Amino acid sequence: MTLKKRSLSGIKPTGTPHLGNYLGMIKPAIKMQETHQTFYFIADYHALTSIREPESLKEHSYDLTATFASLGMDFEEHAFFRQSDIPEVTELTWFLACLTSKGLMERAHAFKDAQSKGQDVNMGLFSYPILMAADILIYDSHVVPVGKDQKQHLEITRDLALRFNHLYGETLVVPEAIIEDQVAVIPGLDGQKMSKSYNNVIPLFAPEKQLRKAIMKIETDSKTVEEVKDPESCNVFQLFQCFADQSAQQDLAEQYRAGGMGYGTAKQICFEAIRDELKDASEHYHQIRGDRAHLEGILEGGKDKARKVARDVVDRVRNKVGL
Ligand code: ADP
Ligand code: TRP
Repeated sequence: MTLKKRSLSGIKPTGTPHLGNYLGMIKPAIKMQETHQTFYFIADYHALTSIREPESLKEHSYDLTATFASLGMDFEEHAFFRQSDIPEVTELTWFLACLTSKGLMERAHAFKDAQSKGQDVNMGLFSYPILMAADILIYDSHVVPVGKDQKQHLEITRDLALRFNHLYGETLVVPEAIIEDQVAVIPGLDGQKMSKSYNNVIPLFAPEKQLRKAIMKIETDSKTVEEVKDPESCNVFQLFQCFADQSAQQDLAEQYRAGGMGYGTAKQICFEAIRDELKDASEHYHQIRGDRAHLEGILEGGKDKARKVARDVVDRVRNKVGL
C-alpha cells in the first residue's frame, strides 16, 4: 500500500454536496483508490473563513463523511479525516507563510472574488491558499484531484514547495493537480458554475422527486419543440454527458439536432441517467447519515493514519529551518 503514490484532496463542509462536487472532485477522487493511496479530508478550518454556525459545520461534516462512505470509499486502506484533527497543518502553514509574498496572496482568486463582491475579507480568507498548500504538502502528496477552479491554488502550492526546497534543500514533495477535462466546470441551474454560494445547485442525494424537480428547473433557451437544438450549448446536455456512455450521448445529441424534441424530454432523460447512477449510493447514504457513532469511527481511523504522516513531515521541516 505505501508503495503507491498518494492522492490527496479536501472539501469544505459549507453545505450539502451537489452534483458539481460529485463530478468535479468526489467521483474522480474515489476512483483513484484503485491506483493510489488516498487521503481525503473535510476542510473545516477553511470553512471557518465563512461559516459562523457551529452546528451547521458539524452536520455538514457528517454529510461529507456519509457521502464518501456511500460512494464506496474504503476506510481500511485509505484515510478520510477532518482537517482540524491534524493541528500540525497550522504549524506548517506558519512556515510557509514566512516564505509567501503578500503580492502573491493579493492575486489569489478566493480573496479577489470576495473583495469584488464587496464582502468583508478576513485574514483567514486572505491567507487561504497558504493553509491549502500546507494541507497538501504535509502529507507528501503526489497528486491532487480537484475541479478546475482550484488550479491556481495548486500552482501556489507548487511554488511554495519549490521555494522551500530551493532555500533548505529537498524537503517537500512537489504535487500535481489532476483536473478532469470533461467535467472541468459543471453548470448549475442557471448556467453559471454550480456552487453552494450561487444557490443554483442540484443536491447529490436529493430524494427522487426533488431531484427531478431540480432538473426540470435547469435553464435552457426558449426554442419550441419543433425547432432544431444545439446540444453543445445546452446546460441539460452538458450534465447528461457526465452520466451517459458514448452511444447514449450520441442518441440524445441526434434528437437535439433533428428537432421535434422538447427540453422537457431531454430533462427527463437526463434525470433518469442521474438517478440510475446514484440510486444505490443514495439509499446507503440515507441509511448511515443518522448514525453519528459510525461516522465518528470513520473519522477517528482517518485521523490516526493522517497524523502519523503529518508529524513526520513537520519534524522534517522544523529540522530544516533550524528549530
Ligand atoms: P462550492 O463552490 O459549491 O462551495 P467547493 O468550493 O466546496 O464547492 O468545492 C469542492 C470541490 O468540488 C472542489 O474540488 C471543486 O473544484 C469541486 N467543484 C465545486 N463546484 C464544481 C463545479 N461546478 N464543477 C466542477 N467541480 C466543482
Ligand atoms: N479550497 C478547496 C475548495 O474550495 C478545498 C481544499 C482545502 C482543498 N484544502 C485542500 C482541496 C487541499 C484540495 C487540497 O474546494
